[in-house]
Amino acid sequence: MSKRVALVTGGMGGIGTAICKALAEESCIVVANCLPGFPQKEEWLARTKSEGFAFHAVEGDVTDYDACAKMVREIESGIGPVDILVNNAGITRDNMFRKMVKSEWDAVLTTNLDSVFNVTHHVLSGMAERGWGRVINMSSVNGIKGQFGQANYSAAKAGILGFTKAIAQEMAKKGVTVNAIAPGYIGTDLVMAIKPEVREQIVATIPMGRLGRPEEIAHLVRYLASELAGFMTGATLNINGGLHMY
Ligand code: CAA
Ligand code: NAP
Repeated sequence: MSKRVALVTGGMGGIGTAICKALAEESCIVVANCLPGFPQKEEWLARTKSEGFAFHAVEGDVTDYDACAKMVREIESGIGPVDILVNNAGITRDNMFRKMVKSEWDAVLTTNLDSVFNVTHHVLSGMAERGWGRVINMSSVNGIKGQFGQANYSAAKAGILGFTKAIAQEMAKKGVTVNAIAPGYIGTDLVMAIKPEVREQIVATIPMGRLGRPEEIAHLVRYLASELAGFMTGATLNINGGLHMY
């Protein structure tokens, strides 16, 4: 079997980097997306190369539908059709709702939710035609339980879950699975940006008493991308140290 091509959006971030490595270990050809002009792109490629990984990089703003079309065409012509898509790019703009400004709402909704449409739309038909595909969407525990100061983020991450279940039904007979992962608090820049005293209060509420590691999320992505995950679709996989159980 030829190697699967995997596209990871936000692939050079904390969780994204771990996902790229885990998919490479699953024998995939991995393409990491980053924002156009991302200053650390070459450094990231050199560092991961020195660790033994041969990643491809592709620039593209996932909030821009046409840029995503161009990005997918570039991958298809240079590397091959996308078999595995990990919609991982995301941002936060936390603020209490009454203080939240429209630009904070828009930035989070377009980056975390519109992006999932923008990228998936360009790869799904190809997956269906070839009779195999994996779409893995990065939601969040806060999309499930809601979070103080995150009306925008909680809405976007909850939206991803509805999207996942709808597309999973449309793709179920096509050999394409569509699943979501809902991580709890993972030790990346996104979480380190929370004020230390607030972050400490949050960690104190996690039954395991610690932040998760990017590799722990990446391992789950690796499973969902694998051949043997072919019977799982429309699922939301919770991985949060016990922060929220339902
Ligand atoms: N529940 C109830 N009350 C809370 C609260 C909570 N979870 N968090 C804060 N409050 C209260 C505070 O005690 C404070 O009360 P008083 O006015 O009576 O003192 C009041 O709300 C204001 O709190 P802050 O001083 O923190 O207000 P702020 O405007 O400086 O900051 C905030 C607001 C930016 C939302 C800040 O509280 C914050 O960063 N909260 C954490 C939000 C969060 O969890 N973000 C996750 C980012 S990482 C991520 O999103 C990854 C993922 O998917 C898990
Ligand atoms: P991160 O380190 O900040 O990574 C996010 C990546 O997305 C960054 O590389 C960022 O690039 C990229 N990105 C942002 N906007 C983009 C855009 N418009 N186009 C292309 N790329 C863009 O955060 P992370 O913690 O790894 O988060 C990865 C995903 O997991 C996010 O969807 C996040 O919501 C989700 N998640 C994280 C946690 C957590 O606790 N860390 C928990 C649950 C869910 P720049 O650095 O250039 O902005």
